[in-house]
Amino acid sequence: MTGLRYQPMLPEDVDAVLEVELAAFSHPWTRGIFLDCIKPGYECWLLFLDDQQVGHTVLSVAGDESHLLNITIRPQNQKAGLGAALLEFIIERARQRGAEVTFLEVRASNLAAAGLYESFGFNEIGRRPDYYPAANGKEDALVMAYSLID
Ligand SMILES: CC(C)(COP(=O)(O)OP(=O)(O)OC[C@H]1O[C@@H](n2cnc3c(N)ncnc32)[C@H](O)[C@@H]1OP(=O)(O)O)[C@@H](O)C(=O)NCCC(=O)NCCS
Repeated sequence: MTGLRYQPMLPEDVDAVLEVELAAFSHPWTRGIFLDCIKPGYECWLLFLDDQQVGHTVLSVAGDESHLLNITIRPQNQKAGLGAALLEFIIERARQRGAEVTFLEVRASNLAAAGLYESFGFNEIGRRPDYYPAANGKEDALVMAYSLID
């Protein structure tokens, strides 16, 4: 896809990240969570389409395991292939850091995200009951995994 650019997320970018995050999520991350991910060197990246910041993603790597902690596309730019492009980018970063598998958790009701992960090749490997706070109490998490090795 033309016009896409990936840039490391720095502490001074977090204001702009929060704008996208707040617009996209019912339960958004806070400034502190993003800063706590940047500090220890997690893979924290911004996505630009031409000169517009349209998304971000955060992944942690520990040994041969990686965890996708956040992937977000600005609502106005969703359903145009950007989430798939950002996912491909961050999975490649995980591979370059030596990870052999990527895990993630997703709200059972988040059909867009689950659809993105499934179409990429993630498999559901479990479920955590009542894992997330939700408007009417709690909600299950689907646990998904993607192998980075043949
Ligand atoms: C999940 C999210 C990142 C997807 O980004 P996107 O740019 O809209 O996704 P894409 O356009 O690249 O879609 C890729 C695939 O995901 C799936 N998908 C995307 N939106 C979907 C929807 N609303 N319903 C079902 N499947 C969907 C489809 O399989 C799609 O492939 P297709 O276009 O060939 O059908 C985006 O919806 C988002 O930011 N949501 C809010 C934040 C969030 O929930 N993040 C994930 C949890 S951390």
